Amino acid sequence: MAINSESGQNVLRIGMAGLGTVAQGLLTLLNQNAERITRQAGMPIEVVRIASRSRKPEIDIGDAVFDSDLESLLDDDVDVVVELIGGVDSARELISSALRQGKPIVTANKAVLASHGNDWFNGSAVLGIEASVAGGIPIMSTLKNGLSGNSVDWLVGIINGTCNYILTAMDEQGSSFTDALAKAQELGYAEADPGFDVDGVDAAQKLSLLAALAFDIPITLDDTYIEGISGVTVEDLRYARELGFRIRHVGVARRNGEKFETRVHPALISATDLIGDVSGVANAVIVGANAVGLILLVGPGAGGLPTASAVLGDLIEIARGTYSRMRIGQNEGARLPIVATESRYYLNIPAADRPGVFGEIGDILRQSGISMEGVIQKQAAVRQTDGEPWVPIVMVTGRAVEASMDDALDRLSSLESVRGRVRRIRVADFDY
Ligand SMILES: NC(=O)c1ccc[n+]([C@@H]2O[C@H](COP(=O)([O-])OP(=O)(O)OC[C@H]3O[C@@H](n4cnc5c(N)ncnc54)[C@H](OP(=O)(O)O)[C@@H]3O)[C@@H](O)[C@H]2O)c1
Repeated sequence: MAINSESGQNVLRIGMAGLGTVAQGLLTLLNQNAERITRQAGMPIEVVRIASRSRKPEIDIGDAVFDSDLESLLDDDVDVVVELIGGVDSARELISSALRQGKPIVTANKAVLASHGNDWFNGSAVLGIEASVAGGIPIMSTLKNGLSGNSVDWLVGIINGTCNYILTAMDEQGSSFTDALAKAQELGYAEADPGFDVDGVDAAQKLSLLAALAFDIPITLDDTYIEGISGVTVEDLRYARELGFRIRHVGVARRNGEKFETRVHPALISATDLIGDVSGVANAVIVGANAVGLILLVGPGAGGLPTASAVLGDLIEIARGTYSRMRIGQNEGARLPIVATESRYYLNIPAADRPGVFGEIGDILRQSGISMEGVIQKQAAVRQTDGEPWVPIVMVTGRAVEASMDDALDRLSSLESVRGRVRRIRVADFDY
């Protein structure tokens, strides 16, 4: 910290990496909310250095010194580094160097934390990570501080704003997946490589961080089940609605005996569920813990200002000297494989439109111990492939172990009367 020569006050001097969406949000907030930030932090917070690939002259960086070399942020005149470049390699180098020097660093980068966080957590240097999950929602400090005296049993989240935006647009406007993704990119919601969002990797990285903080276990992506949203169709969303559900992309982390279940995938959520109405780019996380019962946090999961708000929360705690370190165990965290988890399922079966087919399908499900709870078979939906009429049979099943469902799906697909891929989406039944 430096003493400002004019005011005689302490100043927290920031070196910021990146000049993109979140970095610009941080510059705006530091300017807009300067008075409140100074009061809360006990001192002004000023960006004194910026290092980024390109200068962007249209952005007002005040008195900050610009450099294209990230190492310039490790100078003695920087008290805290803020990493807002994204990606893994350069970010890892910057974070490791800062921590080695004992310089506090704040990052919004879940990708680098998911791959290297285990090396950095439990250390003595300060690493601020609030902005890395769920944008403006203060879920990390809720887990790390507010709930740290609880045993967390489970958490469920809508933690990828792009997936949620796309599914909402397909559901409410009937947009195609491609059009909805293009719009999300135009609005700046999608990551630079939208594959990370729509394939579920971004959500899995965030879930691995949430699980680490919730259960004090190491971060691991390897045993997390990852499924994206590209297989969900407008038709699935419409049938789900008829059955009283919405389809959302969810992350689920649950204590299951000695093991932990961690999975991200599309799921049917009851329209009346606490998070059934979470639409557009919003995120939500519900935590179930033994002392508090249930906590629900909902808010903006992305965007420059909301994410900068989370970065600032960390910076203010650092200025106060009250930032609490991450404490996670090193040897626990064995995962329950997805085939051993249990769920209800939405099935969409393209079946020949002739008598007896429904019975064949029912027999296979029954033999696997799977019941049918809600069934829609629309004659109005009859289609033709190679002159053969077929119709989608849509149902929600009773609870089944995933391995039994996989087996039943294999057998259904081999039926002559089943005319294509059976679409399966898990139903998220939360134990509130
Ligand atoms: N945007 C959101 O809503 C959001 C929400 C939560 C978390 N985050 C996380 O916040 C971080 C920043 O995201 P963002 O949306 O602000 O990204 P962005 O708009 O793409 O900005 C990244 C900035 O970093 C610069 N940069 C990238 N790689 C660099 C390198 N190797 N060396 C120097 N500069 C480099 C870029 O320079 P150029 O301009 O020259 O390319 C750009 O100025 C990411 O980790 C992201 O996952 C973002």
